[in-house]
Amino acid sequence: MVSYKKLGLVNTKKMFAKAVKGGYAIPAFNFNTMEQMQAIVQAAVETKSPVIMQVSKGARKYANPTILRYMAEGAVQYAKELGCKKPQIVLHLDHGDSFETCKSCIDSGFSSVMIDGSSLPFKDNIKLTKKVVNYAHKHDVTVEAELGVLAGVEDEVQAEESHYTKPEEVIEFATKTGCDSLAISIGTSHGAYKFKPEQCTRDKKTGKLVPPPLAFDVLKAVEKKLPGFPIVLHGSSSVPQEHVDTINKFGGKLPDAVGIPEEQLRKAAKSAVCKINIDSDSRLAMTAAIRKHFAENPGHFDPRQYLTPAREAMKELYIHKIVKVLGSNNKL
Ligand code: G3H
Ligand code: 13P
Ligand code: ZN
Repeated sequence: MVSYKKLGLVNTKKMFAKAVKGGYAIPAFNFNTMEQMQAIVQAAVETKSPVIMQVSKGARKYANPTILRYMAEGAVQYAKELGCKKPQIVLHLDHGDSFETCKSCIDSGFSSVMIDGSSLPFKDNIKLTKKVVNYAHKHDVTVEAELGVLAGVEDEVQAEESHYTKPEEVIEFATKTGCDSLAISIGTSHGAYKFKPEQCTRDKKTGKLVPPPLAFDVLKAVEKKLPGFPIVLHGSSSVPQEHVDTINKFGGKLPDAVGIPEEQLRKAAKSAVCKINIDSDSRLAMTAAIRKHFAENPGHFDPRQYLTPAREAMKELYIHKIVKVLGSNNKL
């Protein structure tokens, strides 16, 4: 058993309480590679922001669970090296799909886990979440649960349509499970293609898709039922069009990729939403930088040559999100 406390990590409890009170949200950035981890830490230290570094099932498979755990331990030390006296870094399991996966993460040094029972019937979701909460709380690890299904792909859970969270279910769910935060569905979805063209309108000038607004009425109703309770938004990449355009300009093919407008996320962050998940935007920033680098430097083959601008592009993106969208800067 490795306690996250020994690794210098923190759970989400105080962080979320402060964020809800302060009207901002904590960034939850996914990572699979060393460059992503470095960029996340550099951005968090430069902006004096708390940060959640999250690991999906796919990331564990790609990078190896032990390596990722040691990287998170390294992240704390790296933040200190960069001058941050008391880094506030959470190591979080994203979309945990079973009690066993959550337990294995808790036992190996994660400070927070998500159990995603959103595809289960309501009662089974409660049962599974409660089991994880009981184990996690014994180790002072915080638990995120999910109610409602996001459109698109939830790891292996396919959802054809978005099923918004039912506000009338949240009190029973939060009370019976004892979860520390709740991910809800209000129209966000995973990936770079969040909406079908037929769900959007098209900007006449740019020809770009304009997505439908998030269901703020559902968010408000949830807040009313659970005042001050930490709410989480998944699928919150904005799919920056400059990165999409760069990718397409240099040989990529991402037609009609569209995300959640940043002003809507800003509005959400000022409410009970205190954790905003961003993964795809970092992937787009990295891919755009690498494609551009190769197009302009066809002779390069040293990974450091193209991963340096990729890391810079991700860092810039993370700083932008922290300062201009989530408002978590200067909150250490
Ligand atoms: O919610 C999904 C995250 O973006 C993680 O994606 O399962 O491809 O690592 P992944
Ligand atoms: P995006 O695909 O919008 O970045 O969402 C990431 C996410 O929700 C991770 O859990
Ligand atoms: Zn997610």
